[in-house]
Amino acid sequence: METPTQRALERIEALGRISDHPDHLVRTFLSDASKSAARMILGWMTEAGMVTQVAADGTVRGILPGEDPQAPPLLIGSHHDTVIDAGKYDGALGIISAIAAVETLRDEGIRLPFDVHVLGFSDEEGIRFHSTYLGSKSVAGLLDGDALAAVDSHGVTVAEAIESEGIRDGVTPILYQPGSIRGYIELHIEQGRVLESGNLALCAVSGISGQSRLVVDLTGRADHAGTTPMALRRDALTGGAECILAAEKLAAENPPLVITVGRIEVHPGASNSVPQNARFTVDLRHPEDSSRNQVMGKLHETFQSIAEARGLDFNWSVAQDSDAVPCDAVLTSRLLDVLKTQTDTGICLASGAGHDAVVMSTLGPVAMIFVRCRDGLSHHPDEYASPEDIASGITALVGFLKSFQY
Ligand code: GLV
Ligand code: MN
Ligand code: MN
Repeated sequence: METPTQRALERIEALGRISDHPDHLVRTFLSDASKSAARMILGWMTEAGMVTQVAADGTVRGILPGEDPQAPPLLIGSHHDTVIDAGKYDGALGIISAIAAVETLRDEGIRLPFDVHVLGFSDEEGIRFHSTYLGSKSVAGLLDGDALAAVDSHGVTVAEAIESEGIRDGVTPILYQPGSIRGYIELHIEQGRVLESGNLALCAVSGISGQSRLVVDLTGRADHAGTTPMALRRDALTGGAECILAAEKLAAENPPLVITVGRIEVHPGASNSVPQNARFTVDLRHPEDSSRNQVMGKLHETFQSIAEARGLDFNWSVAQDSDAVPCDAVLTSRLLDVLKTQTDTGICLASGAGHDAVVMSTLGPVAMIFVRCRDGLSHHPDEYASPEDIASGITALVGFLKSFQY
């Protein structure tokens, strides 16, 4: 008979085949593939004996009933959206491992004193709206105001997308009040090389870096590429290029700050027109909020003076600002006790990547398990975690759940 781990490995492949693009993996908020993925995960949760629900935004939940339905539940989750040309483990592994852990408890006839809720969030990457954590914000009651008003590249807001493209059949709101949960635990690939270099399969996470996401607009004047002398141009794209290089320099001068410009749109976007508008995104992260805020101030000043020197209009909007989040000391020490039974050393790593645990920390204590991934590669189609390491991750999750037995 197939074990929960074998099923998990097959499910990673199955989910990795659900994409909005025929040639690479991509699933963004409320896309067709994202909705198919949500249905597939719901099917697995049902097979695992959980009571399932789906929210209009595509976030899914399976509940494994415990002894006392009134006791605060323990939540386990991750996200089912992906970046563009993604690997199949980022997010998916956390949901699929959680289902495998629940199946293991069921197979062993173990009933915990409280319910376990497995959550698959519809958006963590923030690709469509450049605003992350829409799924976890929705369950934490934080999908309101600015978050609902964020627009995608077609001018559609989050609120409109949920209204017109959201899942309709059998939807129920999935919502938690702060303080109503026992805790939240998330298993995720490390997305870095520390575990691999230390020859370790797993570790706990000490905390998650804060991050800011910006949209910068530079506007000059469209002109004829053949007739406009260089000195008379107000080229928005060369201004953008200067800003991007200045941002790179600022990051290099302020380690461990990291700054990424991952997207540029140019208008009118013709090879024979001087660019009138350059819009680019900035993703800025630092483990210390005060340092991140200080660099944000410097970056704003630098961009503004580059724009002024080039006669460009400058606008910047903050699409997202998340403070750094420490993992909970008590849950993490419980997790480390479990990890020490599997590995020689229980270590804690800081996460530069964002995780749904950031938003879930507004509801209760959070902890995270990292699983080694090959070459530390992530946000890349060659992302890979070995079956042995995945099995260890599932064992750790099961051990963590069992540690709450009477
Ligand atoms: C998510 O993977 C992020 O850290 O951007
Ligand atoms: Mn990711
Ligand atoms: Mn992720």
